[in-house]
Amino acid sequence: MSGETVNLLFTELRNLINQYINYSDLDTDKRQQLSAHIDSMTLAAQRHVQPNWAGHMTPAVNELAALGQLLAALHHGNLLSPELYPELTMIEDDIFDFFCPLFGQKFGHATHGGSYGNLDALWQARKKFGVNTRIVYASDQSHYSVAKACDILGLQLQLIPSNAFQQIDIDALTLACNKQPPMAIVATSGTTSSGQLDDIIAINKLIQDFPCWLHIDAAWAGFLSLLDNSPLTASQLGHADSVCFDPHKSLGQPRPWGLLMYQQPIKTTTAPTHYLTQPPREVLPGSYGAELLLPLWLTIKTLGKTGLAKQLQTQLEQAREFAEAINNHSGWWAQHSVTGIVCFTTPPQHDLSILIKKGIFSTTELAGKAVYRAVFASHTTRSNVLIKALEPYL
Ligand SMILES: Cc1ncc(COP(=O)(O)O)c(C=O)c1O
Repeated sequence: MSGETVNLLFTELRNLINQYINYSDLDTDKRQQLSAHIDSMTLAAQRHVQPNWAGHMTPAVNELAALGQLLAALHHGNLLSPELYPELTMIEDDIFDFFCPLFGQKFGHATHGGSYGNLDALWQARKKFGVNTRIVYASDQSHYSVAKACDILGLQLQLIPSNAFQQIDIDALTLACNKQPPMAIVATSGTTSSGQLDDIIAINKLIQDFPCWLHIDAAWAGFLSLLDNSPLTASQLGHADSVCFDPHKSLGQPRPWGLLMYQQPIKTTTAPTHYLTQPPREVLPGSYGAELLLPLWLTIKTLGKTGLAKQLQTQLEQAREFAEAINNHSGWWAQHSVTGIVCFTTPPQHDLSILIKKGIFSTTELAGKAVYRAVFASHTTRSNVLIKALEPYL
């Protein structure tokens, strides 16, 4: 399979939509306007497939996932009524049978992305540990959705400073726990800015003295668990009560696609659901079905762990190559993370705003200092093409 499938899909879709437009009651001007709009959308959609796309965690959509999404568009089953859609239930089971062991977890459900995963996890945490305390600790590098979730749930978030590698400072966390034992700790596996991993083993050791819910936000770096010799292992992740992971970030899945996995089964709701034959679990998602399941299912069933790992290794190799190339130029500096995010600075006379506007890179802050950022989320992003874009400045 190659990018040719995506190009074919783009062309066929555009032709099909234009056929509908041509047969519509719209007048000629309106038809032409709409067709032109579809053409520019088609062109813009191809942005993420380009080898110079490293701005954000929005990869090229995997060809299989795109085909799965088309199939899903024609299948409107809703797992709120699982008895009506045994095929979908089987697909959901397949997905969690595949991912849960890789994350050291036992149960799971689909979410609409990392923000929902963090909210759902903290909701579960509040049910178990929220009687005496509402305090949540997470690092100052945690994703803003953790703060949002705490706000929604009436929890008190305290941000713990991070160390020079943007990981939660374990001494500061210990101090905070000694002062006020928490209801939950959120560890970040793959910080959004620079892709760093909090030290889960140290956090797990610490909470032996402070029983609380440990949630791991692995929305970004969860893909590491598919790799052999990964710095993020099932046994580390298995210390957590819950872990979330976003296949729409690193596995080329269409948005929204998140997984929330946990150790204990979630009870069914006690709220009245008279119109349903089976009461649903007390989880955040309501209606969901093929749109969340089929793209990923088709991807994992076809590529398997080995095929996915191969794509991911390519992404990580490209990131390593890019960081090395940057560090080979005098006055330039790059910090390479094991998750494929490279932060870098240029000599002071350079300004890369033009490249930022094109989505080739983005900017962020490390220890209060502005840096450029290249995210290798896509299997189509290439280091040599990014370096070429930097040539006028090197
Ligand atoms: C570490 C982390 N957690 C959570 C999120 C939120 O994910 P989503 O945008 O899917 O809601 C992100 C998004 O970048 C993230 O990087």
